[in-house]
Amino acid sequence: MMKVAVRYYSKSGNTKKIAEAIAKAVGVEAKEIFEPLSEDVDLLFFGCAPYAFDVDPMVKKFIKDINVNIDWVINFCTTAGIKSTRKYIEKLFSEKGIKLAEREFSCRGEFGIFHKGKPNSEDMKAAAEFAKQIVRE
Ligand SMILES: Cc1cc2nc3c(=O)[nH]c(=O)nc-3n(C[C@H](O)[C@H](O)[C@H](O)COP(=O)(O)O)c2cc1C
Repeated sequence: MMKVAVRYYSKSGNTKKIAEAIAKAVGVEAKEIFEPLSEDVDLLFFGCAPYAFDVDPMVKKFIKDINVNIDWVINFCTTAGIKSTRKYIEKLFSEKGIKLAEREFSCRGEFGIFHKGKPNSEDMKAAAEFAKQIVRE
């Protein structure tokens, strides 16, 4: 049985919605990064958002402090403009010797007057499908 975990950081709740959709789809609990991984996992769904062209320092700390084995990380994010948070986290994971899968999930997240209501139920459905597909393989 594959061991799967979901960790996320979400300031205003957008990424949290996606984290919860993913977690529900794969039958685990979505937890914030403030709860470190306590055991080895085969797959970590890891989600955050960009703020002023970077991820939050707490996100970086979470990655640096990982002290369990993770076979693969699947990135997910919500953003207002950029395509993905990948560029802000991939070096940190590679420094830990952790593989960041090429595939990832990204959608728009509400930011001020932009992208109102995002992520919406369609996005959550797409995230759930994405996650199910990943664990099926
Ligand atoms: C202070 C601040 C800075 C942001 N900077 C960026 C940015 O540089 N690039 C981007 O694509 N989105 C940016 N955003 C938009 C957020 O990444 C987007 O709203 C995201 O969905 C927030 O996720 P959260 O609710 O999980 O925190 C910014 C939002 C805030 C509040």
